[in-house]
Amino acid sequence: MAATLLPTLSPPVSRAAAAFLLLRRAPAKAFSSLRPPPTPRRFLVSASSPYPATPPTALRPLSTVASSCTAARAAPARRDLLMLGIETSCDDTAAAVVRGDGEILSQVVSSQADLLARYGGVAPKMAEEAHALVIDQVVQKALDDAKLSGSDLSAVAVTVGPGLSLCLRIGVHKARQVAKSFALPIVGVHHMEAHALVSRLVNKDLDFPFLALLISGGHNLLVLAHSLGQYVQLGTTIDDAIGEAYDKSARWLGLDMRKGGGPALEELALDGDPNAVNFRVPMRQHKDCNFSYAGLKTQVRLAIESKNLCTDDIPISSASEEDRQSRANIAASFQRVAVLHLEEKCQRAVEWALKMEPSIKYFVVSGGVASNKYVRTRLNQVAENNGLELVSPPPSLCTDNGVMIAWTGIEHFVAGRFEDPPAADEPDDMQYELRPRWPLGEEYSEGRSVARSLKTARVHPSLTSMIQGSLQK
Ligand code: KG4
Ligand code: ZN
Repeated sequence: MAATLLPTLSPPVSRAAAAFLLLRRAPAKAFSSLRPPPTPRRFLVSASSPYPATPPTALRPLSTVASSCTAARAAPARRDLLMLGIETSCDDTAAAVVRGDGEILSQVVSSQADLLARYGGVAPKMAEEAHALVIDQVVQKALDDAKLSGSDLSAVAVTVGPGLSLCLRIGVHKARQVAKSFALPIVGVHHMEAHALVSRLVNKDLDFPFLALLISGGHNLLVLAHSLGQYVQLGTTIDDAIGEAYDKSARWLGLDMRKGGGPALEELALDGDPNAVNFRVPMRQHKDCNFSYAGLKTQVRLAIESKNLCTDDIPISSASEEDRQSRANIAASFQRVAVLHLEEKCQRAVEWALKMEPSIKYFVVSGGVASNKYVRTRLNQVAENNGLELVSPPPSLCTDNGVMIAWTGIEHFVAGRFEDPPAADEPDDMQYELRPRWPLGEEYSEGRSVARSLKTARVHPSLTSMIQGSLQK
């Protein structure tokens, strides 16, 4: 099939995507273009309710076939696309509806913060139960808030990896249910790619190529985004991610984990002396762009022990003034060094990236930890020092959310990368192919040819063969 994009579209939607939309086009819905973006709704999940267990019986990989329908009539514009995004890869159940032009019509997040506080981290089985408990409500609320029904949607995007299999499955199951009910195409989304690409919703001038630092609870990635679906990984963590270090340090310091370890530590650090404890900056001798936070975590633990702070027994709210100050000093010193480690590796990554792609103008910083003000300020300085513009989404789009999934779904959908709707007789207990471990792009090491890195860069999303097909057209 020819690669021609339908001429009436602006910006263009691929022929396959346009064909799909034409076949099932719903009556156009009028939206006010000045509608303010909705504030995300967060509500807590109770862990006590029973979990509906539906053991899968069959394994069927996600199909990689795009629609081959031919569009004969005038095709819909990209702005008319309505994408539902569903995210359940870790501890937040999130859904959102985003329009093709980037307008956020709804955004709902159900947090498992109380579970995190109780169990000290994400317990996969508990998290799965919590997702299962609220997923229907969260998706329904996203549709209701957008004043839409499933039949108004153009497609459904869902995180298929990386993440916890048990949790991913809940989101994928729900996405397929919705897609089956309304005969909607599905886009399988890479969670970390979504953290990066949501910055293109925030800043419409942000074109490829760009450099991105993606910092979350489980990932610490430096990526050169060459084009949609083509990424070169300049650096990753060799052990823990920075978010994990924030979370553990916050816990050891006796902070209130219900607001999240990162935000709690950031708040306490404001009252501390960042030079009070002389933590070592990790991996200075390694002239690469990789990270390590396990050693810094241990340093924090040792600092707490050496000061004889009884953080296990005495929460910060009951600590004496002197004790609180010591904890604040440790928090501030940890944060200074944790972020200095980011700064040093980002500086090197900028140099590498500019050698590979001298036209880079933007440095994207996203993922949960990017909502931290100190992180943003310091990395803005790195960007400015190198003549780049920092793009960091607002905090509600940095932490896990459905908008980033819907938006990434839109980006791939308009490029013709999606899966046909599930068959009407698809059993409800179908088991799907998930990607709990899914690297974002090919690893790069200095000295290796850029061309080779880009040629072998892993192409996203799960629809690899289809993408290759559409690239060849
Ligand atoms: O991207 P995200 O919401 O979920 C994952 O994909 O992991 O990131 C969650 C991580 C957690 O470790 C959380 O403590 C951290 O982001 N985080 C922060 C802040 N807000 C969230 N870390 C430091 N400062 C913050 N303000
Ligand atoms: Zn995330």
